Amino acid sequence: MNNKAIRSVHLTVHLIAVLLLYTVIIPGAYAGDFFKGKTTYVTYCQACHGSDGRGALAGTPNFKRGQVLMKPDAQLFKTIMNGSKIMPGFRGVLKNEDIDNVISYIRSFH
Ligand code: HEC
Repeated sequence: MNNKAIRSVHLTVHLIAVLLLYTVIIPGAYAGDFFKGKTTYVTYCQACHGSDGRGALAGTPNFKRGQVLMKPDAQLFKTIMNGSKIMPGFRGVLKNEDIDNVISYIRSFH
């Protein structure tokens, strides 16, 4: 192999390594844990949002119909931290990780 071919092989191996990093490591680190999220939901959210996500209280969005879930995680995260109208904020109550997990859980209602 000449130098150019060797460089191109190196580049390919490097690209594959980077892609693997993105597909394996990064989602594992950031995606919420659905199962842990369920526990948090039942404890802190279900009274208002209902066991099926439809809303047990007037004025709650219907997660089952996907209401408000078109928003990115970061935005839902902010509302859960700060609260909205009668919904209390969970800052200081839930850890960031708990909020990520519960977002992953409410996204499963549709
Ligand atoms: C006291 C009742 C109550 C509790 C407890 C509650 N919510 Fe809510 N939630 C609401 C209401 C009412 C709204 C609609 C607020 C509005 O219209 O601004 C809402 C809105 C939301 C939204 C939509 C945010 C957006 O960006 O539009 C999300 C997501 C949400 N709640 C998640 C949760 C999670 C997760 C929990 C538990 C950690 C929780 N809620 C606990 C009543 C509650």
